[in-house]
Amino acid sequence: MTDYKTMAAQIRALAEEERDCVPLLANAAAVIFGGMDEINWAGFYLTDGEDLLLGPFQGKPACIRIKKGKGVCGSAVMRGSVLRVDDVHAFPGHIACDEASRSELVAPMISGGRIVGVLDIDSPFEGRFDESDEAGAALLAETIAREADFSRLAPAPRD
Ligand code: SME
Repeated sequence: MTDYKTMAAQIRALAEEERDCVPLLANAAAVIFGGMDEINWAGFYLTDGEDLLLGPFQGKPACIRIKKGKGVCGSAVMRGSVLRVDDVHAFPGHIACDEASRSELVAPMISGGRIVGVLDIDSPFEGRFDESDEAGAALLAETIAREADFSRLAPAPRD
């Protein structure tokens, strides 16, 4: 079984050293990718206006921009809660980045009352994720949203 509590504790420990979202999310992707079996991609898409923009991840190169409401990631943003897809081929609008992906788990990250991005985890196995993974991904997304400093992503102040 995946030990989500230990991964969350590792991410909190990393945040004690540096909260900037780039290094923290990069290390969080490494913690998650290394801490889970039977997955082929783990990482982040970050809110950029009406889009989601690719952030730090582990796995094969992925699509860079996703419109809100599109794909599993954009649908999870519209929904505002964890979205688990047992068979991505049966999900209308699924965006295939790594053609090996068969199931997917996306958890929105909410900070300051807004969705700052999503945690996205892909597996090459159909039905890889269950309810405990949904709760685990939600825990990781909450932890990262609380610990990371996303201020570098905010628009520059006007003069
Ligand atoms: N499958 C996602 C796109 C991102 S990749 O899985 C890394 C989606 O449908 O939103």
